[in-house]
Amino acid sequence: MKLIDGKKIASEILDSLTHKIEQFPRKIGLAFLLVGENQASLAYVRMKKKACSRIGIQSIVKEYPADTSQEELLKEISQLNLDPQIDGILVQLPLPAHFDTLRVTRSIAPEKDVDGFHPINMGKLLLGEADGFLPCTPHGIQQLLAHTLPIEGKHVVIVGRSNIVGKPLAVLLSQKKKGANATVTLAHSQSKNLSEITQTADILIAAIGQPRFIKKEMVRPGCVVIDVGINRVQNEEKLVGDVDFDAVAPIASWITPVPGGVGPMTIAMLMQNTLESATRRG
Ligand code: GUN
Repeated sequence: MKLIDGKKIASEILDSLTHKIEQFPRKIGLAFLLVGENQASLAYVRMKKKACSRIGIQSIVKEYPADTSQEELLKEISQLNLDPQIDGILVQLPLPAHFDTLRVTRSIAPEKDVDGFHPINMGKLLLGEADGFLPCTPHGIQQLLAHTLPIEGKHVVIVGRSNIVGKPLAVLLSQKKKGANATVTLAHSQSKNLSEITQTADILIAAIGQPRFIKKEMVRPGCVVIDVGINRVQNEEKLVGDVDFDAVAPIASWITPVPGGVGPMTIAMLMQNTLESATRRG
């Protein structure tokens, strides 16, 4: 078994972005909107902000109490949409229950939607149009795989069909394009005989959000395993992925650790999208 070092690959990407950002003729700005006090969201925004300062992107974090109204948030977003110093807008999810997440996502100007969640950018991904923004986690996974092995013609099984990871990732990896061209199966909680499906994978991607869901019996020896999960488990200090790492790692050919696998790549792709936005906007 070999570890896929997402932290190292992400760090190399950040270094190459730093160089480009130094040469960019103006400051690049990224705005984070954070509603409520979800501990995981606070931690993610802190890490993203740290990446911004490392590579020279100016970030602003706007924090709102959990009882903020949707109208208030939409108003803030429309101001940021018009602000020439802001190249990217990111609303950290999940939002409190009284928000209509799709409505909020739609209100971000597509050309500043560095998360790639706006329906216009999702649509461009589906159609293979290159002038949108790719969602950061799927793009990060594709880059991790492309760094590790040829994926053309391989059978990729994705477990989990979320709008943020599983669904866009299936589209991205099956594209007729270099670094893609995979045969993709999108499995989920209603899939029958899940274990039989996952055993046919050359590359297995776990994005279910359940700690240690992927057991050794579900994995074919020699499989490449990508763990998208970041779970907190009661009475356990360390973060736990969606893969039972200790049991699966010995039979996998390659596997991502949690943390230090997919997470840093998500952040690197966010930084890349932000520079891309600034470059397009001029
Ligand atoms: N929540 C979980 N993942 C993400 C992400 O990539 N972006 C945002 N904005 N929220 C998230």
